[in-house]
Order: sequence, then structure tokens, then C-alpha cells
Amino acid sequence: MTEPYLIAEPDSAFVAALAARGLEPRVVSTDDVDAYAAWLQVVRRGFLGGEATDDEVEAARARGVGARRTGVYDPSAPVPDAPVGTVASWIAELSVPGGRGIPSWAVSSVTVAPTHRRRGVARAMLECELRLAQTLGVPMAMLTVSESTLYGRYGFAPAAWGVSLTLDVKRASWIGPVPDGRVDFIARERLRELIPGLHERARLASPGEIEMPTGHWDGFAGTRPDAKEPGKHRAIQYADASGEVRGLAVYTVRENQDDFTKSYVSVEYLLAETPGAYAALWRFFVELDLVGTVEAHQQSVDEPLLWMISDRRAATVTVRDHQYLRIVDVPAALDARRYGASGVLALDVTDPIGLSGGRWILRADADGRGRVEPWQGDAPDDAVVVRLGIAELSAAYLGGVSLATLAAAGRVETRDAATAARVFSWHVPPRLSFWY
Ligand SMILES: CC(C)(COP(=O)(O)OP(=O)(O)OC[C@H]1O[C@@H](n2cnc3c(N)ncnc32)[C@H](O)[C@@H]1OP(=O)(O)O)[C@@H](O)C(=O)NCCC(=O)NCCS
Repeated sequence: MTEPYLIAEPDSAFVAALAARGLEPRVVSTDDVDAYAAWLQVVRRGFLGGEATDDEVEAARARGVGARRTGVYDPSAPVPDAPVGTVASWIAELSVPGGRGIPSWAVSSVTVAPTHRRRGVARAMLECELRLAQTLGVPMAMLTVSESTLYGRYGFAPAAWGVSLTLDVKRASWIGPVPDGRVDFIARERLRELIPGLHERARLASPGEIEMPTGHWDGFAGTRPDAKEPGKHRAIQYADASGEVRGLAVYTVRENQDDFTKSYVSVEYLLAETPGAYAALWRFFVELDLVGTVEAHQQSVDEPLLWMISDRRAATVTVRDHQYLRIVDVPAALDARRYGASGVLALDVTDPIGLSGGRWILRADADGRGRVEPWQGDAPDDAVVVRLGIAELSAAYLGGVSLATLAAAGRVETRDAATAARVFSWHVPPRLSFWY
């Protein structure tokens, strides 16, 4: 059954904002084959891709059930059925500090045609998405971005970094644990069967991860019907001493024609449920013969791997903003996560689009639970007053940046940044292991 929000009509504020520009929104269902195809082709063009073949459109349509898609149309354009603006969204659970998940509004496929840029179409779409999340009671919105400059104006901020690791494996000998389970090659199709369950078991331990959009798994495994070179994907599993599969990885290899001992490996996805699985899978990559360089992306800023190799400078680490969050409902979001230390914070939150601002008292107990209540009148005597924007609160929400750092940057105002930072800290660095 289709969830009602996937096909709900755009709200009147969105319709009015577009009408003022001679444009109109429509929700695009995957059941409407032609409208879907036109929408997808515009998304591909927006991200500088080539035209999709009919097979690719059909494969994407089959994968795409379960998302809401909106197109913005210009009735006066020569091709009025091709949208000039696109956006997709769906509800997915986001892992938050404390091994819990909250429903979040995932936003993707934001494009505006170059012929219609800088007329406020993206702003109208994004503000509508956030209002929709609020109307549905979804406390958080999230996205990954093509440019860092786009979404701060709507209250989004980077909350989990994505780290690219390049390992010179000839330098990086393994000094980590050698677990007593075993690593084996498996068929891609077998990995495809196992990986959703493993991800479901592992994701809550890692703040920043979200439920994987179902279509992504075939992309990682090389099992998509329209996969270009499926045979390039090699799959391995780690089973612990009792035979339970605790880790999976997929990688591709590129030969170095000038020196066969220095070929390149790209770790496409590595998922470990236990420290043993993590160590065994990474050891496999560090010790591969005929390989000089191993690359992995969307890692956390604090990977144990860096403490498992003999030469730290064998690893080149590049940090990028990756998972962006935007709190929609402050009390619900604050209530859901656990905290790194006890303390009382009086939070005065502003919002550039007037959606979610307000004043709240957060009491974090020694066991990590937080209680949130409205802040009326004077702040309690034991409270540390913290004034900040919704973007800064969203940035600090997963513990990926310290409130003390944001205070030092002039982005947060407080007289006691140390206490505020300790309360919001978390011992597991946030991570999101893919793009969406
Ligand atoms: C990014 C994109 C969606 C912007 O669409 P748009 O309709 O031109 O944006 P708007 O006119 O609504 O602009 C909204 C605001 O964003 C700003 N903005 C838009 N594009 C920007 C950019 N590339 N860099 C910095 N600011 C930008 C505008 O100046 C405007 O600012 P203001 O409202 O605070 O004054 C469009 O350029 C695009 O499709 N780019 C290629 C695909 C892409 O990168 N999509 C984003 C995927 S995450």
C-alpha cells in the first residue's frame, strides 16, 4: 500500500510561491511511467549525467517505489512535461547517540534546470519539504549535498563527516588483532542476500547512519539488472569462530599496467558488526598481494584502522562534510538522543525560516537520558544558557562537532562552553557510510 505522504498534494504556500513565477508543482508517481521517465531524465541532466536508456529508467522506477517525488513545471516551456525543478523525499530512521533511531525526512534529487536557476525554485521546494516533515510529525530532516554552500540558509548543517582513506599498503603492515574467525569469498548474490540484515543489526551503533534505501544494495553488490560491469565487484564475508557471519565487504580492483605489484583496490562497502569482523576485513585489504593502494570512502573521522597499521603516515585522510541534518522538532529530537555527561542547559534556538525556533530547558542525567521542557521566565539557577541557531544545534546533535568548537567559531553564545560541550558529546564518532 502506498503511504499517503508519498502522494499528498503540495501545500498551498508552495503552489503560491511557484504561481508567482508562472510555474506549478506536481507530485510524480512511479505508476505514471511517462511522468516518472521525464522527471528522472531531468534529475540526470541536473547532475550532469547523460540521458538514461529505457532499461535504466525502468530499473530506476522499480527501485524508486517508496519515495515521494515532486516536479516543478513550466507550462510555457517548449517541453512542458519535463520538469524544471525536481526533489525526492522519504522517511528513514536516523541513528542517534545512545543506540536509538528517530524517523527523519530524507531529501534527495534536488535540481533546478539551468534555464530556471536563481529564481527561488530550490528555496520554494526545500521550504515545502521542511513544512511537510513538520506536518507529518517527523522531527528531523537530512540530506547529502553536491555543494556545501546550498543548505545552511534553511537550517541544515554538516553533522557527520565523511572521511576518505588512501592506504599505501606496502608501508602499512598490520599490527591489529588477528581474530579467530575466517574470511572467505562469496558470490555477489549471496552478499546481496546477507547485507540488508547485517546493516539493520549494525546501524544503530553508529550515529548518523540511516536505513539504507533498498535500491542502494544492488548498486554496492553489483547485482543491479542494469549494472555496467558487475563482474568487477568481489565479495567477501567474515564468519566468527561459531560460524556466524559478522562482516561483509565488496571491492573492485584496477590494475596498474606499469607495475603489477602496485594495483589499486577500492573498498566499495565494508560492514562489520563486531570488532573481530572489522579487524579481519581490514586485515584482508591491508595484506592483499599485487596491491599498492587501498581506498575507502565515507569512513568516520576516528577509524580504529588507523591504530591497526604500523605506519600512520601510510594513510592519507581527507575529511569532507557529508551527512547534513536539520532539526524540525527540537524537543522531540533532544528527547530521543542520549548525552555524554549530566548537566542543565537553557537553549535559546533561532531558526532562519521560522519553523522550529524556541526556548527549552534540557536536563541530562548521569545515565545519559535527557528531559526537555519549555523554558518560561528566567533560566533555572543551575542552567548554562546557550544561544544558537537551528543549524548549529543540528551540527552538534550527533556529537560530531563540539559546542565548544562552535562557540570558539562565534557560532554559539554561552558563558560555559565546556559544560555545554560535555553534555552534547558522544563517544562514537558519527558516520554515514553512503550517499543518498
Ligand atoms: C543548486 C540548485 C538546486 C539551486 O537552485 P535555484 O533554484 O537556482 O536556487 P534558488 O534560486 O532557490 O536559490 C536559493 C538560495 O540559494 C542560493 N544558491 C543557489 N545556488 C547556489 C550555489 N550553487 N551556491 C551558493 N548559493 C546558491 C541562492 O543565492 C539563494 O540564496 P538566498 O535565497 O539566500 O538569497 C541548482 O543550481 C542546481 O540544480 N544545481 C545542480 C544540481 C545540484 O547541485 N543540486 C543540489 C544537490 S544537493
